[in-house]
Amino acid sequence: MADKEKIFIFDTTLRDGEQSPGASMNIQEKFRLARQLAKLGVDIIEAGFPVASKGDFDCVKNIADNLGGGVQVAGLARCNKKDIDAAWDALKNGVNPRIHTFLATSEIHMKHKLRMSPEQVLELAVESVRYAASLTPNVEFSAEDASRSDLDFVCKVFTAVIDAGATTLNFPDTTGYALPDEFAAKIAYLMENIPNIDRAVLSVHCHNDLGLAVANSLAAVKAGARQVECTVNGLGERAGNTAMEELVMAIRTRSDLVDVRTGIDTRHIYPTSRLVSNITGMPVQPNKAIVGANAFAHESGIHQDGVLKERTTYEIMNPEDIGLSKGNIVLGKHSGRHALRDRIESMGYRLTDEELNRVFERFKELADVKKEMFDEDLEAILLDEVVRIPQVYELVTLGVMSGSRVMPTAGVRMRIEGEEVEAAALGIGPIDAAFRAIARLTGTRSRLLFFSVNSITGGTDAQGEVMVRVEENGRVVVGQGADPDIITAAAKSYLNALNRLEYLKKAEKSR
Ligand code: KIV
Ligand code: ZN
Repeated sequence: MADKEKIFIFDTTLRDGEQSPGASMNIQEKFRLARQLAKLGVDIIEAGFPVASKGDFDCVKNIADNLGGGVQVAGLARCNKKDIDAAWDALKNGVNPRIHTFLATSEIHMKHKLRMSPEQVLELAVESVRYAASLTPNVEFSAEDASRSDLDFVCKVFTAVIDAGATTLNFPDTTGYALPDEFAAKIAYLMENIPNIDRAVLSVHCHNDLGLAVANSLAAVKAGARQVECTVNGLGERAGNTAMEELVMAIRTRSDLVDVRTGIDTRHIYPTSRLVSNITGMPVQPNKAIVGANAFAHESGIHQDGVLKERTTYEIMNPEDIGLSKGNIVLGKHSGRHALRDRIESMGYRLTDEELNRVFERFKELADVKKEMFDEDLEAILLDEVVRIPQVYELVTLGVMSGSRVMPTAGVRMRIEGEEVEAAALGIGPIDAAFRAIARLTGTRSRLLFFSVNSITGGTDAQGEVMVRVEENGRVVVGQGADPDIITAAAKSYLNALNRLEYLKKAEKSR
């Protein structure tokens, strides 16, 4: 394995991934995720688009300044001085910064979006890369919409930008239009027709509009690409990007046919996927490859029998290789603080002593009422206690009345900036009633866009996990809540979303 050539994994969960509608993350969440990505072993983290907003700038700077270690931190910039300067200002104190600048090369983008001729595009690309290279030797150039561009023109641009100082050349399938054999042929063509390609790394960045992002990326690697841009859980603009976990496990599982390796420590894949889902509020579909809840579940009796006799009858990967521990019952009510801290760190969280104490107390309380404790139970406590943002609204008590012949009613007592208030409301169901009572007390004008409830683990004593997405004046936030009582979990998730809205509004005001 070690003698295989290594490809670079460029993770763009924090940039393209964040372009998934509703997947925005705050500065602490982005840093937590960056630290987990570094632990996972990605080579480059694209931390954001610094010129886009002060918030984006601060997030990139925070990661570049504080992450440390060997991982490269990239910032995106269009091909202009203002963008490149903003990217560099955010990155320059980091250990290993990369400026990633991009310009479209397809006829359709040049004519309608940029309103520039191919000659002007070539000139601007060269000028911008030269300027970026005067700031750092680590410069990536992306030819946006490359898969729909004239290939000879892309070769011309890539040849010129290498001469201007680019060290990575990215060939995106921006619209997710390519098919694997076609995409591989394009990569092979670039490898043959860019005379100075030996001075740069050829990269691909695929979108999933036709469900082919992973297949296209893999085909590109087999044709000579040596960097793949991807996101955890396949998050990203529209249908998303290449799912990192799928690409990495395909390379590993089919190492008989794929002659490269990655630097990913696959045992951190599952905790990273959970972290991304929890932070962004984007649930992972149960049948999602590698990290979906059903990815290693065998429903049919014939399959179960086969797996019990010999795991490899129906399993091509070992669940432990992606960090799914068997049964996953890790801690019980007799576990100590030290074991708890170890487990929490393996899940991507680092706690202060005070945070650990709070989590420990909650853990013990839950372990008293619940027979078995799973990672997901612990995660729910962490979301409540650690990932929390300042609490303008806090739930004190909730009581509901519901059933087949009663009008659902909820009574909510909560604290708003320290002051206790209460209200009751009727609703279509008990959750609707609870949300109406909360809306009355908070006076919120937000709209509920999405609501989902899941059982965190199996069994009737499992905690219910609720995720909501809420919108107010164009701001979209997610909220999560977990509790053995699903109506309480729903109320907590709604309040979490409202607290996030307040946090966003305050952050915007202070800019
Ligand atoms: O999809 C795309 O083309 C991009 C570029 C900025 C790399 O995200
Ligand atoms: Zn993209």
